[in-house]
Amino acid sequence: IKETISAHHKTKHHKNRSMSSITVQPPKCLQKTFVAPRRHMFGPGPSNVPPRILAAGAEPIIGHMHPEMLEIMSDIKSGIQYAFQTQNNMTIAVSGTGHTAMECAIFNAVEPGEGVLTAVNGIWGERAAEMAERIGARVNSIVTTAGGYFTSEEIDRALAKHKPVLFFLTHGESSTGVVHPLDGIGDICHKHNCLFLVDCVASMGGAPLHMDKQGIDILYSGSQKVLNAPPGTAPISFSERACQKVFNRKTKPVSFFLDMTWLANYWGCDGKPARIYHHTAPVSAFYSLRESLAILAEQGLENSWRRHKEVAEYFHEGLENMGLKLLPTVTTIVAPPGYDWKEITSYIMKNHNLEISGGLGPSVGQVLRVGLMGGNSSKASVDMVLEALRDALRYCHKSKV
Ligand SMILES: *Cc1c(COP(=O)(O)O)cnc(C)c1O
Ligand SMILES: *[C@@H]1O[C@H](CO)[C@@H](O)[C@H](O)[C@H]1NC(C)=O
Ligand SMILES: *[C@@H]1O[C@H](CO)[C@@H](O)[C@H](O)[C@H]1NC(C)=O
Repeated sequence: IKETISAHHKTKHHKNRSMSSITVQPPKCLQKTFVAPRRHMFGPGPSNVPPRILAAGAEPIIGHMHPEMLEIMSDIKSGIQYAFQTQNNMTIAVSGTGHTAMECAIFNAVEPGEGVLTAVNGIWGERAAEMAERIGARVNSIVTTAGGYFTSEEIDRALAKHKPVLFFLTHGESSTGVVHPLDGIGDICHKHNCLFLVDCVASMGGAPLHMDKQGIDILYSGSQKVLNAPPGTAPISFSERACQKVFNRKTKPVSFFLDMTWLANYWGCDGKPARIYHHTAPVSAFYSLRESLAILAEQGLENSWRRHKEVAEYFHEGLENMGLKLLPTVTTIVAPPGYDWKEITSYIMKNHNLEISGGLGPSVGQVLRVGLMGGNSSKASVDMVLEALRDALRYCHKSKV
């Protein structure tokens, strides 16, 4: 009987592995070889990554505290200081996306009960307000229509009324296409004893920006837009004035991961001789970020600003020739009436292997958004997008409204 049972067990085991300790089998899908599609990434990010940056990211891993890695981080710091036009010592890249830097700025600069004012002319001001609310700040917002601007007088009045410790403004509002003027706003904030926080995720490298000259106290960006690096790292810099506030808090920031006291040490910005392990830096992502900053430095910031402007004007002209209407800046096109924007973007993806996107937040359903960033800010990209749009408008259905 014993023998029969064990024989029975054996065959059963052999047949369906019932004796194995695992209950979830290796997934079939993972046996397929992975190849990423080749696409023209002309939406509001991520953008196409040039081979040189991809190759940097494919270099062998070294330790996150090895001297060579610390040197790479120092190079990154210099690259960000150049891209931001700042001398700030407190300049690092956060391990994470633009949102991570946004939380890093707010979580470190604001304590529970303090006031924050956000300028809302698209989704980013709304998100900043939500982040500040989550840490128990008193949040007020000044709101204008999607695509609108704030005057210095409006900002001055709101700061006088609400007395916040931090004012948030988006430089390049990627949900509506507005590039907000920055000159003079820093001084107004400082007059009210308030820090000036600016989001330049979508604009850094593509539009003039001078952190120090414009009196910006905290500035952050992202890797995957104009820099053409993979998503996952986010430049951020704090002015002397911001450091005074950040490093003299009564309470610790809610996030250990984003605590600037730790990050400043890890990035060698605190003057202490020893670097202490905080988290394992995304080594490959730092290689790529370093390379992307090297390309920007080689090409020259002013050349990059000029090229983005010229390409945008060329694009603008082409769209107008097609009879399409634009919102204040060139990348946001009013969705042509009668068409379903989703059908247009899917058609273009399917037939042209090219990504453009619809609206976001207040602009959902109303606009098409095109981002021609970094190396893809070229006349060739514009021609490609115009051709794809022309084709889509020909073949997509015009519904009866
Ligand atoms: C893309 C973007 C962000 C968010 O960046 P993620 O990397 O997606 O987290 C923030 N602000 C602006 C203006 C952006 O365009
Ligand atoms: C877009 O960028 C990628 C990566 O650098 C490049 O290979 C491609 O030629 C660019 N396309 C255009 C039209 O500029
Ligand atoms: C900047 O950081 C370096 C490196 O830690 C430090 O030695 C230096 O004193 C700092 N400079 C300022 C102005 O804080």
